[in-house]
Amino acid sequence: MEVIPSGKALGAEIQGVDLRQIRAHEFESIYRAWLDHQILLFRGQQLTDEDLIAFSRRFGELEFAPIQETGRRFVEGHPEIYVVSNVVENGEPIGSLGAGEANWHTDMSYLEDPPRASVLYALELPPEGGDTYFCSMYRAYESLPDKLRRRLARLTLKHDATYNSGGYVRQGSVATDDPLNSPGRYHPLVCTHPETQRRLLYLGRRRNAYIRGLTLSESEALLDELWSYATRETCVWHIVWEVGDLVLWDNRCTMHRRDRFDASSRRIMHRTQIKNDACPTA
Ligand code: SIN
Repeated sequence: MEVIPSGKALGAEIQGVDLRQIRAHEFESIYRAWLDHQILLFRGQQLTDEDLIAFSRRFGELEFAPIQETGRRFVEGHPEIYVVSNVVENGEPIGSLGAGEANWHTDMSYLEDPPRASVLYALELPPEGGDTYFCSMYRAYESLPDKLRRRLARLTLKHDATYNSGGYVRQGSVATDDPLNSPGRYHPLVCTHPETQRRLLYLGRRRNAYIRGLTLSESEALLDELWSYATRETCVWHIVWEVGDLVLWDNRCTMHRRDRFDASSRRIMHRTQIKNDACPTA
């Protein structure tokens, strides 16, 4: 098994491993590489849903998939699997997010204890488009000027629960674009990773975000400034998917976004998520 760093702010490809049959010492190396590189790419896998669940479970207890914007919950018999897809069958989408762009976000950061990791496995892909970009929130924090970093200490940020990253209203939510009153959860703007102890900028998502205690215009200006650092090229690595790719990300210290693709082509991804054992803390 070989770990090949991307050479960017985050990301590594792991070669020479079949995720259906990893041994204890290989899992230890994968776990270490995951903490070191934040995103791991494994190409050429041949996983059933059961294999995907078994590999994901090695990292901890799994979340049940959130309810999709269509009201559907999960793959029959596998409540842990969330489908990201634009495919429509019998008049009903089989998954979430359609074929449009998915904006930068950390998965489910509107919860008190968002998942610690997400695992995304590519089953069907369009001929082009649908690339996924990841950014390092360690690097984002480290790239802030000292004065700005000091200003963030003790500030908390609301992570909106109204919209998913595709801009769809979540099941049970009412559309609103009022950051002061939208539903969501506050987390510290600067968090410490519970395992690496590294400091990171915790932004979650931009829409309806609000920094407690500031006026709305102060909050918007500070957030725009922080986002301009976080999504710079120097913080980002991106993946051009191949069928059989599995990507594992540390959801505590990264954000991701996805390019749009031709809606008449098919893209089907299966995702699992690993429960957190600690909520984001400063
Ligand atoms: C996601 O935002 O979880 C989906 C990313 C993708 O479709 O590549």
